[in-house]
Amino acid sequence: MSLQHLTEKTYLKFSKIEGNQHIASDYALKCVSRLIQDFQLQQVLEVGIGIGCIADSVLESYENIQYTATEANAFCLNAIKKNITQIERIKLYNDLKQIPQNTFFDFIIIDGSDDSLAEVKRMCTPKTIIFIEGGRALQVVSLKKIFPKVLHAEMLSDYKNPACGPFSTQAWCGGGQLIFPYPNFKMRMYYLKEKWATYLKRKKRKANS
Ligand SMILES: C[S@@+](CC[C@H](N)C(=O)[O-])C[C@H]1O[C@@H](n2cnc3c(N)ncnc32)[C@H](O)[C@@H]1O
Repeated sequence: MSLQHLTEKTYLKFSKIEGNQHIASDYALKCVSRLIQDFQLQQVLEVGIGIGCIADSVLESYENIQYTATEANAFCLNAIKKNITQIERIKLYNDLKQIPQNTFFDFIIIDGSDDSLAEVKRMCTPKTIIFIEGGRALQVVSLKKIFPKVLHAEMLSDYKNPACGPFSTQAWCGGGQLIFPYPNFKMRMYYLKEKWATYLKRKKRKANS
């Protein structure tokens, strides 16, 4: 099964699960999977695992990923035990402050709030990429302060939400914010490509709205 089909299968699975009102969008799952593949990312941190949609998608698609996540909500902590097929592969913490010193990630997915977001700085290496699910403008601003050399590109879909999911089929399927804290040459090229793709998709959205 292709990576795209695997993410679609996960989205369909979570669309039928109780508490699905905050799951990641179909397009955000595709963005996460594409970034892992394009940058060969292995050490993943998800801030706000929720009911586990992103985590299940990643773990079902990639065998060599080490997954760490934060979550404090009791409903979600209970739900992930049932929802995530390979739950034993996840190291779970209540919040970012609990993650031990000298722990590093090459991919940080932010899909929840954490009062101590600045903690992510100590977990980054020059290779680290950050993806914020959805808009989350305040978190983008915070990260721009934490990483002054950051490059930020929005990742937008050019299609509407699939009918199987919990979100309106009249609304554009979400996406996310791609953040390169310490951009190297490859990241700069990727950033330009995403900026251009988003520009074209915005035009397409406008033409179809
Ligand atoms: C956008 S959700 C995270 C979704 C998660 N990444 C996923 O794909 O399943 C952000 C936060 O909302 C809270 N949350 C998510 N689903 C919830 C639910 N059904 N009931 C209560 N809180 C929820 C959790 O604390 C979670 O960290």
